[in-house]
Amino acid sequence: MSKPIKLAVIYGSVRNGRLCDAVAGWVADRVQARDDYSLDIIDPLAEGLIDLRGAGGAEEDAVAGRLTQADAFIVVTPEYNHSFPAALKHFIDGFNQPWHAKPVAFVSYGGLSGGSRAVEHLRQVFAELHATTLRQVVSFPNVWAHFDEQHRWRDMERGDRNLSTLLTQLRWWASALRDARAGTDYQALS
Ligand SMILES: Cc1cc2nc3c(=O)[nH]c(=O)nc-3n(C[C@H](O)[C@H](O)[C@H](O)COP(=O)(O)O)c2cc1C
Repeated sequence: MSKPIKLAVIYGSVRNGRLCDAVAGWVADRVQARDDYSLDIIDPLAEGLIDLRGAGGAEEDAVAGRLTQADAFIVVTPEYNHSFPAALKHFIDGFNQPWHAKPVAFVSYGGLSGGSRAVEHLRQVFAELHATTLRQVVSFPNVWAHFDEQHRWRDMERGDRNLSTLLTQLRWWASALRDARAGTDYQALS
């Protein structure tokens, strides 16, 4: 098998009491159980990157390095007011080149729409950043129904199946684009 895909899972929510911990934690568990991926978890809250004046400095440089290393991204996003959270936009905007010529997949959650409006807005943002987004999305409508009071998952059979398909497709894109970047420097094209 080719060498593992370096995957960064990015937290989309920084809210107190966020469900994002449970959703992203589930994604991380499933990725870690596979041998075709190596995992990095990037939580803008933990990295000190939520200062809207611009974090800059060592924290941002460290995260830029980790994003640059990544071959692929999964953004775990809730829907806020028919879009994705402002903190996630701030995080994405903090970097440019690390996103270029790489695939981005989404795991989304929310009320009725399961975060689909957040995902459609994110596709526009990542197109501007020269990233490609996957059609396959793992989404959780009415996300609260999937958890008990302690934020533990109830039944993940369908979610597991969908995530497994997404990871297989993401691996295809990540591997193809990793080879392409190694062959031709994407930055040189602009
Ligand atoms: C400010 C705010 C706005 C929201 N707007 C929507 C919305 O437009 N559509 C929707 O389906 N859910 C909406 N929700 C529900 C969230 O998607 C849901 O509470 C989710 O758990 C939030 O993610 P988090 O707990 O990780 O922050 C909203 C929640 C918040 C806090």
